[in-house]
Amino acid sequence: MSTAKKTKKRVTTHRLWEMKQRGEKISMLTAYDYSLARIVDDAGIDAVLVGDSASNVIHGHETTLPITLEQMIDHASSVVRGIKRALIVVDLPFGAYQGDSKNALKSAIRIMKESGAHAIKMEGGSFISASVKRIISAGIPVMGHLGLTPQSIYKFGTYEVRAKEEEEAEKLIEDALMLERLGCFALVLEKIPAHLAQKVTETVKIPTIGIGAGPGCDGQILVTHDMLGINKEFSPRFLRRYAQLYDVMKASMEQYITDVKSGDFPNEQESY
Ligand code: KIV
Repeated sequence: MSTAKKTKKRVTTHRLWEMKQRGEKISMLTAYDYSLARIVDDAGIDAVLVGDSASNVIHGHETTLPITLEQMIDHASSVVRGIKRALIVVDLPFGAYQGDSKNALKSAIRIMKESGAHAIKMEGGSFISASVKRIISAGIPVMGHLGLTPQSIYKFGTYEVRAKEEEEAEKLIEDALMLERLGCFALVLEKIPAHLAQKVTETVKIPTIGIGAGPGCDGQILVTHDMLGINKEFSPRFLRRYAQLYDVMKASMEQYITDVKSGDFPNEQESY
């Protein structure tokens, strides 16, 4: 049994910080609904992200931009009902915090009040500093997110690895230090070179959670639908698939259809 499963105590932002001090790796996965949240929590995950990747894997949009604050709150409330142990972090969606810090705080408060989650995540560096500061001073824990930030996809133009050049790498380190100074409790580092993620991890005292950022981070996150193989099309180099659920589910459904058509289902034992 994993150490995570043995300790039933609720995971807090402070616990993640202690894990970094001890050199204990942090595990994180996404969830968007009650049933998935229960499985992820029972498996012993440390932290769950109600990611705006729901826009892609649940709602079928091409980007994370269309998902609304109301939809995120809805996903988050379902996840909260399924989790007993893990720390629950919710993405502030595109449009809910860029620009006006008062509006950003209002969005963060709605997520915390209406869903019961424990923290929020925001993408970006210096350009969101006023919002990060305001939200943290209201007592809401914030997780930062640097590197590939999918809400800015139309600025980047591609989902390629970020910060390969020195200038962008230096800016990323500056942003990481700034987010730490503002009081963020952790940082997601997405799709950046492994050596840079390692450098950030050694530079800041708060935990770093990597996705496509190599083994030097304090923890790792994957989109659950991707690691379970529910999506067949998405297969970037950083993704390790732990199951092929698309195939398993499709084969089960095909068998069900066959059984219904042939009259094999339901049988006597399955009837009253
Ligand atoms: O929305 C999401 O799932 C994320 C992770 C990829 C970090 O932001």
